[in-house]
Amino acid sequence: MRSNVDTGNLVSLQSHILQEEARHPGASGDFSWIVSAISLAGKAIAHKVRRARLEGVLGDWGEQNVQGEEQIRMDVIANETILRCLGSRASIAVVASEEDEEPTILRTGKDGGKYCVLFDPLDGSSNLDACGPVGTIFSILRNDASIEGAEATICQPGMKQVAAGYILYGPSTAFVISTGNGVDLFELDPFMGSFLLVKQGLRIPSGNRTYSLNEAYTESFPKGYQRYLSWAHGQGYSSRYIGAFVADVHRILMSGGVFLYPPTSKHPDGKLRLLYEANPMAFIIEQAGGKAMSSGLPTLGLHPQRLHQRTPIIVGSADQVEAVAAQVHQVAEWHP
Ligand code: AHG
Ligand code: MN
Ligand code: MN
Repeated sequence: MRSNVDTGNLVSLQSHILQEEARHPGASGDFSWIVSAISLAGKAIAHKVRRARLEGVLGDWGEQNVQGEEQIRMDVIANETILRCLGSRASIAVVASEEDEEPTILRTGKDGGKYCVLFDPLDGSSNLDACGPVGTIFSILRNDASIEGAEATICQPGMKQVAAGYILYGPSTAFVISTGNGVDLFELDPFMGSFLLVKQGLRIPSGNRTYSLNEAYTESFPKGYQRYLSWAHGQGYSSRYIGAFVADVHRILMSGGVFLYPPTSKHPDGKLRLLYEANPMAFIIEQAGGKAMSSGLPTLGLHPQRLHQRTPIIVGSADQVEAVAAQVHQVAEWHP
């Protein structure tokens, strides 16, 4: 006879992904094995992030990355951690990181390389010194063996992602993933060492009049964005900005609102990178019923030309993204 004692949450990321996989007859298990590698890297990075100050690994690495941005030690540590975890997965053809100039070919399609994994190993890393939230963003694409060259192979529109997600290192460690069938949220139980399923089929709320952008750059935004800000101020909007894309967008996924990183004089194409920041986060938000636009077009429809290509982005609840578009592209007046 079954007892009615509560044995707690026992649905792990591992078992959930395998369950998902079982829905696809003929699935080989290669994809689940990649997600397992990302989960392992996330647990390792969570541990290192939380001990970074104790172990004296905060602060600058002393070099710039390909983006010309000062690397902090944890950027490099997170990058190496992910590369080590992915390196042992036999179905990965190409890996590409914000921190590395070029993609790395691990094996060709003929040698079993079926997937490409792109990632921002530590997003928002400048928050670390202040004990602020940071995260790892990942995007998984199919390896198209017919395309010559690693960079060309990974330059696929965001709508072609097989899966995307992120790990957010905040007061808890959240793992958010979509394989194109809705968005699922897991939380790390540090004592069990497992990511446990806490929410399936997340839907982004609408009606939250909160925008998220760095208002310090307002003077250099295109006029339409300035028009939106004046309109929003008149509509009683509030503002939240953490300075870590992954944390700002996670807040918006959970509570609604809109994130913007417009073109600025310093970043005329926007600051965020299309392939391993904008596309994965846009995929998650759209899978949860939200919207993502770049220069008036759906972010996920853009055709990337280069690995580190940047893009402006407006992403969040559909009603709030449309309110921005109404002002930026001056379409008919919008009253959400
Ligand atoms: P990263 O730490 O990976 O370089 O990303 C930082 C990005 C993004 O996370 C955040 O939204 C944005 O930089 C903040 O830029 P500003 O400091 O210009 O507002
Ligand atoms: Mn980033
Ligand atoms: Mn980064």
